[in-house]
Amino acid sequence: MLNRSRQILSEPLRLQCCRYLASDQKPTPPRTLITGSLGQLGLTLAKEMRSRYGRERVVCTDIRKPPKIVLQSGPYRYANILNKSGLEEILVEHRIDQVVHFSALLSAIGEQNVTLALQVNIEGFHNIIDLCKIHELKLFCPSTIGAFGPETPKNPTPDLTLQRPKTIYGVSKVYMELLGEYYHHRYGLDFRSARFPGIISATTPGGGTTDYAVQIFYDAIESGHHECFLEPNTRLPMMYISDCIQSVVQMMECPAEELTQRTYNIAAFSFTPAEIVAEVQKYVPLTVEYKVDKTRQKIASTWPEVLEDKNARKDWGWDPQYTLEKMVPYMLQKVKSQLHSEQVIKDLF
Ligand code: SER
Repeated sequence: MLNRSRQILSEPLRLQCCRYLASDQKPTPPRTLITGSLGQLGLTLAKEMRSRYGRERVVCTDIRKPPKIVLQSGPYRYANILNKSGLEEILVEHRIDQVVHFSALLSAIGEQNVTLALQVNIEGFHNIIDLCKIHELKLFCPSTIGAFGPETPKNPTPDLTLQRPKTIYGVSKVYMELLGEYYHHRYGLDFRSARFPGIISATTPGGGTTDYAVQIFYDAIESGHHECFLEPNTRLPMMYISDCIQSVVQMMECPAEELTQRTYNIAAFSFTPAEIVAEVQKYVPLTVEYKVDKTRQKIASTWPEVLEDKNARKDWGWDPQYTLEKMVPYMLQKVKSQLHSEQVIKDLF
């Protein structure tokens, strides 16, 4: 009721309605749309949000044909973020309240196709942010350690600092941060962003510089040998997927008045390839050969080693649960199940 009439209510009336809801009933859970939901994070976030807000209230979208189990788990719609009216149709038909915009080309793949990265990461974001403004939707779009560059202080990297990234991915994410802040300042858009470290999960990423930290688990289980594309001493911020998903939910649920900025660093732990190899070797035999990929090493060398996240901790209670030591046995177990019984995809629903 409140959602449907939101755009035609005057501001005072809207406030009255909110007060009524707050005093007499529980507020209605938000209806969420996730773009790029068949990527590394989307289905895990959808599972978490569906358990909190209800199955029908989270709409997954992507441009790929979904596995049957995705269709059975809740609403799924085809959505090309470059097709603004197609997106708008879905937002309106499902009466969406908030968008989590995951569609993006990552750092390494972006360097291989700059034109496509500009389309997906910039034009796609234009469509999303404009529709969120028109329909008064809350918007979460992740930023990244890739939004920093060689001039940025590396250890620790504060929220507010020099940002001169050297990849099109990084450039597009800085633009996204700034445009989101501008729309907030200019139009009151409820834009929120967290700068993600490399995310480690049994669901595989594609085209990133931190991807080795997922591949190493598959190699450890499948062959006991990993070819690492980064140098052994390359330290980067990383995070287990459960913490990453919690960060999105926590940030989206945080009352607006408690946020003192729109974009926050979030951190869990940092490690080098040599350190994760040693940790994995505590559980399974693993040999490693360093076959350094020049492009990805060059990218990694410009990124932070450790993100400072004190503002996220202070403002919205960011408190990651996983350390490297706690994560490794979980990952080995998840990857083993994935390879042996496709348990991970089942776990998602
Ligand atoms: N995981 C991303 C990448 O490596 C960083 O955000 O591109």
